[in-house]
Amino acid sequence: MARVLITGTNQGIGLELARQYVARGDAVLATCRKPSEELQAVGCEIIENVDVADDASVAALAQVVGNRPLDMLINNAGILTSESFDDLDYARMQAQYDVNALGPLRVTHALNGNLGAGAKVGIVTSRVGSLDDNSSGGNYGYRMSKAAANMAGVNLSHDLGPRGIAVALLHPGYVRTNMTGGNGLTDAATAAAGLIERMDALSMETTGTFGMPRAMS
Ligand SMILES: NC(=O)c1ccc[n+]([C@@H]2O[C@H](COP(=O)([O-])OP(=O)(O)OC[C@H]3O[C@@H](n4cnc5c(N)ncnc54)[C@H](OP(=O)(O)O)[C@@H]3O)[C@@H](O)[C@H]2O)c1
Repeated sequence: MARVLITGTNQGIGLELARQYVARGDAVLATCRKPSEELQAVGCEIIENVDVADDASVAALAQVVGNRPLDMLINNAGILTSESFDDLDYARMQAQYDVNALGPLRVTHALNGNLGAGAKVGIVTSRVGSLDDNSSGGNYGYRMSKAAANMAGVNLSHDLGPRGIAVALLHPGYVRTNMTGGNGLTDAATAAAGLIERMDALSMETTGTFGMPRAMS
């Protein structure tokens, strides 16, 4: 049994991650801003009022976790707003940076003391944050924030590597959730299963790398 902490679990991919880890017998600490009925039905420990963009809120999360060791930390919480070149809203872009890029760093840093040798950290980023894979432009804030999240993950792999902690950058696919307005090529359950597979496969040999679901890679 592993102890897994996941952010952003009241809906979407995070909710499915919580469900599936619980179903296989792991102990889940499911963090959210406000629990949904679906999350409450999962039957795991819920830590609410956790806003990954807020220092005090993340410090309070660390207090609740206390000295319990974590085998896995999955930074899943994220937001998407769309800004085109003709509609650059810098406040919205900064908000995405704060949640999508600084959020995983803030949470991982706050829970650093709960991660020991063999622990794994996942950051749910996106291929939309890839420089190589950008064939269409647009979505300035989201793309830039996810590119920064990728960089945070690689940096974390360097800083945590000497302690035997592996870090994965995870792309879940194009998933039908509220974030995509229900559009996508796959459902949240399938996406979560793919992420769990990648976390299971993560090792010190693959730390700091970007992982696609098997079907897409
Ligand atoms: N869906 C896709 O196609 C896709 C593709 C690539 C990557 N991703 C990434 O996958 C992750 C999950 O997305 P999703 O599709 O499941 O979207 P979603 O259904 O909108 O869920 C996003 C989750 O993040 C939480 N969240 C947002 N801002 C937060 C904050 N400041 N503090 C704490 N939690 C916050 C939301 O909580 P509230 O309910 O309280 O807002 C929600 O639980 C995100 O990082 C997203 O960027 C998704």
